[in-house]
Amino acid sequence: MIEYRRMVPEDADGVARVEKACMPVPWSRESFWQEAANTDAYYLLGIDTDKDNLIMAYAGCWVLGNEGHITNVAVDPDYQGQGMGRKLMEKLVEAVKPLGVDSMTLEVRPSNTRALALYEKLGFKSVGRRPKYYTQPVEDAEIMWNTHI
Ligand SMILES: CC(C)(COP(=O)(O)OP(=O)(O)OC[C@H]1O[C@@H](n2cnc3c(N)ncnc32)[C@H](O)[C@@H]1OP(=O)(O)O)[C@@H](O)C(=O)NCCC(=O)NCCS
Repeated sequence: MIEYRRMVPEDADGVARVEKACMPVPWSRESFWQEAANTDAYYLLGIDTDKDNLIMAYAGCWVLGNEGHITNVAVDPDYQGQGMGRKLMEKLVEAVKPLGVDSMTLEVRPSNTRALALYEKLGFKSVGRRPKYYTQPVEDAEIMWNTHI
């Protein structure tokens, strides 16, 4: 069974494992430790209770007033394509609404068709691009907003 809960600093190792498996330029374990201690950040974890409480996905956002800035979303490759990313994002949105968040934004590589499809299904719309935002490989970022979460 998959359970969801907020990240705490002690989760940093498990989150960094998922990050390393998913991202070309992964954030470090220390970054996640700091994010967990940051009161303006909210990271939600997906945990597989049938696999010794394995952290299999996470989604995070910075809460800046009424805006939620999504930082990272990743699902362990073994669990991708099964609706986990969508469920996790929906739960993150529900978790930050009571904090006063009513709109959310994120950046995504235009080549990341799976992530783009996920965000569009959640009501995010493209509003422009940041040129050469990403490295390894260099790519623009699509900027997306959902102003009615
Ligand atoms: C992007 C990511 C978070 C999506 O999570 P996921 O669990 O694989 O996605 P889901 O199974 O919830 O699918 C969500 C939507 O993506 C789309 N999708 C799923 N598999 C797809 C594929 N192979 N190709 C294109 N679109 C796909 C579907 O539209 C799906 O909607 P549906 O639920 O109505 O079918 C995950 O694939 C991942 O971690 N990728 C690597 C890291 C990454 O790119 N993170 C995002 C950075 S911005």
